[in-house]
Amino acid sequence: MSSQENPAENLPSEQESAHGAVAVADEAHPFADPGLPPHEHRVQDIDEQAARRSERTVALLFTISMLATVAFIASFVAFPVDKSVYIWPIGHISALNFSLGMTLGVALFCIGAGAVHWARTLMSDVEVADDRHPIEAEPEVKAKVLADFAEGAKESQLGRRKLIRNTMFGALAMVPLSGVVLLRDLGPLPEDKLRHTLWSKGKLLVNMNTNEPLRPSDIPVGSLTFAKPEGLEEHDHDFQTQIAKAALMIVRIQPDNIKDKRELAWSHEGVVAYSKICTHVGCPISLYEQQTHHALCPCHQSTFDLSDGARVIFGPAGHALPQLKIGVNEEGYLEAHGDFDEPVGPAFWERG
Ligand code: FES
Repeated sequence: MSSQENPAENLPSEQESAHGAVAVADEAHPFADPGLPPHEHRVQDIDEQAARRSERTVALLFTISMLATVAFIASFVAFPVDKSVYIWPIGHISALNFSLGMTLGVALFCIGAGAVHWARTLMSDVEVADDRHPIEAEPEVKAKVLADFAEGAKESQLGRRKLIRNTMFGALAMVPLSGVVLLRDLGPLPEDKLRHTLWSKGKLLVNMNTNEPLRPSDIPVGSLTFAKPEGLEEHDHDFQTQIAKAALMIVRIQPDNIKDKRELAWSHEGVVAYSKICTHVGCPISLYEQQTHHALCPCHQSTFDLSDGARVIFGPAGHALPQLKIGVNEEGYLEAHGDFDEPVGPAFWERG
């Protein structure tokens, strides 16, 4: 009969049981070492039926963990995000969050509980004491480590308890699947949304404060006017999302003072329109200095020269502000001639 079939062979030897016996005090060691208490065998050490019951319990816990992981994935697919349920005493909560939390909690708990039960009932419980050694990796030490490792593998009974081993590997392999399905929450992909704003050909420039379409005569020299695209209202559900990309600042500069040729071509009678979103990290630019035509971002002091293509003359911003090409329609209102020709705000991925 092999040791695999006879649990009595897992019991500690006489020598092991005697380890830690009471030492006698002497001059060098004035206090006696009380040693370890006598070792008491567990029922699983002497009764194979009890050992098999423990094995089945551990396997059951690992199996429940696998089922909980399957339930986690099913919940993720089955429950809509906006469905709520009443749970006493918590109240109304998201059905999806509740089911994900419960199933993932059960999956992890059962793996932990199974491992603990396995260790407490089936793995060797002999207390082992070892004297300290110099910290040297001598060949004998390495050989001992390998031997201890092999002994540990034997004592854990991984080879013998195939049901535990297989269900544990199954549970450990399936739990990470929960993280894989959660990757869906990273989507959807932005596609080209970061490159476009609400501005398009013919859209009127509307004053942010008065909500009225702007005429060139509404923009006096030296003033700073903020505008939004026609049709975008504050009560729109995506107002903040859209205005964060489409916000515009408009100034009037004497055409003779405009140094950049393209800026002049994209302006109307000295009225120029630039993105209000700083190209550093996206703060709204709100300060304008009339004499120098400098626009200043209050967050980190990036300064843009609005008379020279809004190029950066100071601060951490890496790019000039995008300009919106404008003109007037037949009724004399300022209108866009298209969208910005580059992404607004912080230069994501160097603007593609
Ligand atoms: S966000 Fe404008 S300078 Fe930093």
